[in-house]
Amino acid sequence: MQIDGEERALAIHVEGEDPAPWLEAFHTAFPDWRVLRSDQIDAGATDQVAVVVVWAPPSGFLGQFPNLKQIFSIGAGTDHLSSDPSRPLRVPVIPRQEPASTRAMAEFVLMQALLHHRRVGDSIMHRSAKRWEPEPRGPVAGCRISILGFGPMAQATAELLVQFGCRVTAWSRTPKSSAIVNVLSGWSALDAMFQNPDLLINLLPSTDETRGLIDERRLSLLPRGAGFINVGRGDAVEQSALLRLLDSGHLSLASLDVLRSEPPPANDPVWTHPRVILTPHVASSPIPAGYAAWVATKISL
Ligand code: GLV
Repeated sequence: MQIDGEERALAIHVEGEDPAPWLEAFHTAFPDWRVLRSDQIDAGATDQVAVVVVWAPPSGFLGQFPNLKQIFSIGAGTDHLSSDPSRPLRVPVIPRQEPASTRAMAEFVLMQALLHHRRVGDSIMHRSAKRWEPEPRGPVAGCRISILGFGPMAQATAELLVQFGCRVTAWSRTPKSSAIVNVLSGWSALDAMFQNPDLLINLLPSTDETRGLIDERRLSLLPRGAGFINVGRGDAVEQSALLRLLDSGHLSLASLDVLRSEPPPANDPVWTHPRVILTPHVASSPIPAGYAAWVATKISL
């Protein structure tokens, strides 16, 4: 693509993944652009790069493009950008928020919420002891759910849960309003989110303020038998406290899709804990073709 007589390029870095499907998707969505993989950028191309699409860029990557206009974060969270201290702060970061991603998140949480509500964790635990203990449960309607966070992922999730009749309250650091759920805001309202839900869902990003926020004191405020779903970031949770409360029976089940360290170390009890449903950070993963098409609608140079 030529803008002001200059050829424009887009550079991609997806740490830990095969770049081929990403390159193909972006070639298709950006037919007039040069699409460059991060390890094949020659000195002449750095001036042309106006847009980057990244997950955990290596140190020095983002700082090498003098004409950079937009940074697309393949993550819905942007904490992975801290891997590159050269990131120019003047350049806007656009987190992944395309409708397919927010919908996928909402569906994943709904699936987990239904597992919690139907006490499937108990059935899994009882199976290993060959215990057959049916516990009748009705529809999920009426289930009290607290959602920490109220960004686009949390909003889509809240909306879907409300469609199933759940009674949802969300919490946001800054004031936000919603036509469909009650939204509490500010630090003084945070403890109230733990005081009466059947299910607590974390969708907060990782920041200095959220790290360790779901600690033993707050988890202990949850009613006996409550469940917990973490699809935000692992470092929001004091994991040892969570496991203690699961062991004591205060909490019934934890669905953990994100952890402080991914994958967890081999000796981490989450691998085998009978009251933990562990998934490898898959609640909302981008599909390259759909994501690239969405990025093309968000270009603003
Ligand atoms: C994944 O957790 C993401 O930030 O998209």
